[in-house]
Amino acid sequence: MCGIVGYVGNGSAREIIIDGLKKLEYRGYDSSGIAFDAGGKIEIRKCQGRISNLEAILSKETIDAHTGIGHTRWATHGAPSDVNAHPHANSDGSIAIVHNGILENYIEIKEWLAKDYEITFKSETDSEVIAHLIGIYYDGNLEDAVFKAIDRMRGAYALCVVAKDEPDKIVAVRKDAPLIAGIGHGCNFIASDIPALLKYVREIYLIENNETVVVTADNIKIYNADRQEVKRDVFHVNWDADAAEKDGYSHFMLKEIHEQPKGIYETLHRRIDENGEIVLDGIKMTKSDIENFNKVYIVACGTAYHAGLVGKSAIEKMAHIPVEVEVASEFRYRDPFVDDKTLFIAISQSGETLDTLAALREAKRKGARVLSVVNVVGSSVARESDDVFYTWAGPEIAVASTKAYTTQLMCMYIIALYMGRTKGTIDEAYYKEFINELALIPDKLEKVLADEPKIEELAKQLYRNEHVFFIGRGPDAGVSYEGSLKLKEISYINSFAIAAGELKHGTIALIEQDTVVVALATQDRLFEKMLSNIQEVKARGAYVIGLAKEGNADIEKQADKTIYIPQCIDEITPLLSVVPLQMLAYYIAKLRGCDIDKPKNLAKSVTVE
Ligand code: M6R
Repeated sequence: MCGIVGYVGNGSAREIIIDGLKKLEYRGYDSSGIAFDAGGKIEIRKCQGRISNLEAILSKETIDAHTGIGHTRWATHGAPSDVNAHPHANSDGSIAIVHNGILENYIEIKEWLAKDYEITFKSETDSEVIAHLIGIYYDGNLEDAVFKAIDRMRGAYALCVVAKDEPDKIVAVRKDAPLIAGIGHGCNFIASDIPALLKYVREIYLIENNETVVVTADNIKIYNADRQEVKRDVFHVNWDADAAEKDGYSHFMLKEIHEQPKGIYETLHRRIDENGEIVLDGIKMTKSDIENFNKVYIVACGTAYHAGLVGKSAIEKMAHIPVEVEVASEFRYRDPFVDDKTLFIAISQSGETLDTLAALREAKRKGARVLSVVNVVGSSVARESDDVFYTWAGPEIAVASTKAYTTQLMCMYIIALYMGRTKGTIDEAYYKEFINELALIPDKLEKVLADEPKIEELAKQLYRNEHVFFIGRGPDAGVSYEGSLKLKEISYINSFAIAAGELKHGTIALIEQDTVVVALATQDRLFEKMLSNIQEVKARGAYVIGLAKEGNADIEKQADKTIYIPQCIDEITPLLSVVPLQMLAYYIAKLRGCDIDKPKNLAKSVTVE
């Protein structure tokens, strides 16, 4: 995700900012840049790629700047490129900004600036609009101009601004995106994240939502939304640098598990307008395209494939189209039946998985329309698709995928709803109820996460086992596969998942005294069937962990331990039920002393066959 670092003082702004940006590299980015005061003007250097590319540019010149702002960009609006990289400036270069987040009403402001001020824009970003907006309000006082600009801005952002005529000042704003100010000696800092500043300061101010901060070398002033100055206690950071990168979590995987309510919220709200209507900006698929499809293939690998299994049920139910889900490595060599009436959906976090990319190319060659569900903007899968539906998980660092999966699920529900609505196969009442249920998920997920201590206790009881089975029916079967994959990839426990009704056709032979079985029973209509399956394994001595919705306490009569998720409609339980399984895998792996973020034999992005 994007990162911000700013500095005002007597030191070398360039060195300090580059150093800070490097500390944010772990977050993922595709370009970087810096704006600095160059004595009467603002200079900007920026480029696509690694920070080392930026350093190579900067190394060719002598820069003696004492004020500056820097940025690492993770593309959202506009592909990764030199011109879309931050900082952005207004037309005469007197204002420069760096921006994390999204300016939601940028089109409206952009059109207004173009019409009334004849402003032309260099980049495809929403962020550039902010530089111009502040520029037209600027009248000698940067904070006043920023206050006026933010009154017109809608969205979630952290914003950092410098002005040519006030070379010793940075003004920054926090609106639903992290921002901190670092307290130095004869210098001060601003940043999106603590690790960026740890080499220089340990005393910081945590900037709160809707606050504006004015940073000079000897002062940091914080203003609330009413422009009143507020006092803030100093926060002393005592984490080491490694812990700071993980926001204090012991592993990226745990951090990413906890980021799921936010990722799910973002993924939904980017696609739903204030009237609850789905908006598919940038997706060109028309009503007649949707009506023309007679078949859908969902193709992916690993966790993304498991998201596809849930997507299949949703699309078939809502859009009444047959859906096949297949692992990409099989699809590509199978000569599948694909033509111009086929919708091919590729799901990939990285967008670089070779098998998925090859399957996509094969489907395209045969005439399919390709829609991809991708996390990394500008990745190969995204670039080669006809349409892209981005997940808003943010960079996923841990090899074990967590927040990518739940945001992929959210995309699949939105796609299914959209197709059903367009074809008229779901009615208004169903659509509205479903959207409302999806909107409640982030809060419900917080409740699930609050059960973490209970899951940790359970892990203590289970971590010495060498075999764990996962069973479930309907959407729970898909989540069982995902829970099992999580466990095996990070704890190296031999784990197996199977549709619960299929157990009796062979696999039940492996169940013996004390075999651990995790039984997902979140589907109301299949609850009693699952209770019977639990009885079957109990009769053979299994130790059963049941997972059910709150209120379905009958499961306690069968299971040895029960984990509950909040009530929700059956179709969307995977958004909740996978999370205890992710936490269980995490704590088991931790107790087994495994290298959780980088499990053996695995890579984050699999670009080989
Ligand atoms: O980047 P992708 O989503 O295409 O990656 C697909 C799989 O390699 C990935 O989901 C893998 O299974 C994860 N390690 C699972 O946690």
